[in-house]
Amino acid sequence: MIRRYSFGTPLPTDAVVCALPAEKGDVPYFTTLRENERVSFTLSLSPEDILFGLGESVRGVNKRGFRFRSWNSDIPSHTENTESLYASHNFLVFFGPSRLFGIYLDDPGAVIWDLGYTRSDTAVITSENGNFDFYLIEEDSLSGLVRTFRGLTGQSYLPPRWAFGYIQSRWGYASEDEIRTVAEEHRSRHIPLDAVCMDIDYMVGFKNFTWKPEAFPDLKRFSTELKQDHLRLVPIIDAGIPAEEGFAQYEEGKAEGVFCKKEDGSEFVASVWPGWCVFPDFLQEKARTWFGDQYRPLLEAGIEGFWNDMNEPALFFTEEGVSEAFARAESLRGSHVDYESMWQLKGSFNGIGNNMNDYRRFFHRIGDASVRHDKVHNLYGAHMTRASADAFRRYDPDRRFLLFSRSSFIGAHRNGGVWQGDNFSWWSHLKMALQMLPGLNMCGFLYSGCDLGGFGSNVTEDLLTRFLQLGVFTPLMRNHSALHTREQEIYRFSTWEMMRDTVTVRYALLPFLYSEFMKAALTDGMYFRPLAFDYPEDTRAVRVEDQLMLGEGCMIAPVLEQNAVGRYVYLPEDMLMIRFRSASDYDLVPLDKGDHRIDLKLNEFPLFVKKNHLVALCAGGESSETLDDRALTVIGRIDRETVYDYYRDDGFSPRPDLQQHLFRISIKPETVCTSTAGVAISKLLI
Ligand code: GLC
Repeated sequence: MIRRYSFGTPLPTDAVVCALPAEKGDVPYFTTLRENERVSFTLSLSPEDILFGLGESVRGVNKRGFRFRSWNSDIPSHTENTESLYASHNFLVFFGPSRLFGIYLDDPGAVIWDLGYTRSDTAVITSENGNFDFYLIEEDSLSGLVRTFRGLTGQSYLPPRWAFGYIQSRWGYASEDEIRTVAEEHRSRHIPLDAVCMDIDYMVGFKNFTWKPEAFPDLKRFSTELKQDHLRLVPIIDAGIPAEEGFAQYEEGKAEGVFCKKEDGSEFVASVWPGWCVFPDFLQEKARTWFGDQYRPLLEAGIEGFWNDMNEPALFFTEEGVSEAFARAESLRGSHVDYESMWQLKGSFNGIGNNMNDYRRFFHRIGDASVRHDKVHNLYGAHMTRASADAFRRYDPDRRFLLFSRSSFIGAHRNGGVWQGDNFSWWSHLKMALQMLPGLNMCGFLYSGCDLGGFGSNVTEDLLTRFLQLGVFTPLMRNHSALHTREQEIYRFSTWEMMRDTVTVRYALLPFLYSEFMKAALTDGMYFRPLAFDYPEDTRAVRVEDQLMLGEGCMIAPVLEQNAVGRYVYLPEDMLMIRFRSASDYDLVPLDKGDHRIDLKLNEFPLFVKKNHLVALCAGGESSETLDDRALTVIGRIDRETVYDYYRDDGFSPRPDLQQHLFRISIKPETVCTSTAGVAISKLLI
């Protein structure tokens, strides 16, 4: 059941797809307080209450004990103190012995989530602008609650099947020769690969929708050449358009009036990678259509996937911001130089990027109204994603395109996936990546993953290996790193064969993981979930922070620590552990409910399967297109007839019908081909 409560004058956000009448009266469970524009909701928490959700955010699966701020931020430092990342996903579930409900604040401005931070027994959620819809969702299970919320916000984006392949990316690939070398290094060593990302270096002067003619003399020919080898190019597109006289996109957009303006009607200009840029007003349909149409030359060159970046929007600096900083610094000139004045001097320039004053300098047109950017800040990236997805649908309505964005808001989950932004090559970030996944899934962002290996700083062989072992299970499996960091393509390392073997597991599992993903997406379910969703009565399981349920019957528990050759795992029921080393090399170990210490050497990682559930493996391959997904080895620990509804489609049609694509695999214990202590293995041809 969903109830909507309306506050102030909510602006359209595109998050919700069902219109509900607004309730009269107060929101149940909370004490509501209005203070100037702000509206806050207070609720006492019992010690047992657990809070799940908030999508892309730091800290644990259980969000209790910290303060978050929904404010889309270009922030390279994802530490425990980071209140805001690139997205605002205002959905939170309260789960305790005597309560179960979810709330969604459809608020495009800043929202503060004080979840037991100021007082450990109190949650206070505050909308800074006070114009929003508050949805209260109640169901009798966690999964039911999320499903109802997702019904409210619409079906998740469906990527093409090739997007489940391994993707190699790095900021710095600057020519087709470099990309060809990356492809060849993978192919010659039989490291599976489906796509290579092109970062800003493919562009002329980092200008959107251009590519360097000398480095990419014939992009269409190059993309065709790669496609013949079952590889795809995935270029980046940034939000800003260079404000350069004579630059076609700038002149055209200016003539169309699609860029954000300042109060005096002049263009808002800020510096990003290409230098001074203007920013499309993605909140206007006209601007979205215009921007979307700019993808056409790339689409015509055969590109089928993109990543949208810098769309919080990131602002390095504005002329006004720089002048203000100099003025502050100037005012200190001549004062006695002590540590305080020195800090003030430094402070004048710190925070010059992504500055709130700049976000207050420009406006959007929403209908006839002019709305200051900071009031709707969190919508910007989502509407860029919307512009792109709409353009792809216009260009080819019969094909799914790959699209993942850095910034997002709920609603964008219908149009694309997300990556988790600029993480570091840190062990703590491996754990953080895992802990973000269930929240993202609750909010509909099923197609997601982190920069495997870490974006910033220098990765080590063991860390990359463990990152890849998590990546085997994340729908987006992309190795990405920053310019000037250690090169981290698999083939750069002495242990590349071990890493390759890890990736082969992804390809053996790809048809199964795709099946689990599509079933979750088409039924408003979750691909990753906290254990609490499956074991709400198990007081141990509900608090597990480093294991996740995957699909209908599986659980992952990767090694997250340096030098560890094993880990403790809690099994809420009897399961089968598949300990992988490669697509063809794995042990099957039945384990009973309870605590276990599992040995996992650096080249080993587990997948746990609930009893009387099945996992299907194909033989693997070097690209998603060349896998034989009809010959499956079905693995399970079964003591009764067990079925698996295997989803299989052409991998690109945009509106697949679930029922038409399900193949029922049914196994009886007595028909198994091989059996190890209750473990059933059977080879099937579908
Ligand atoms: C941003 C992106 C990163 C990209 C870089 C250069 O930092 O988050 O992924 O590599 O910009 O385009």
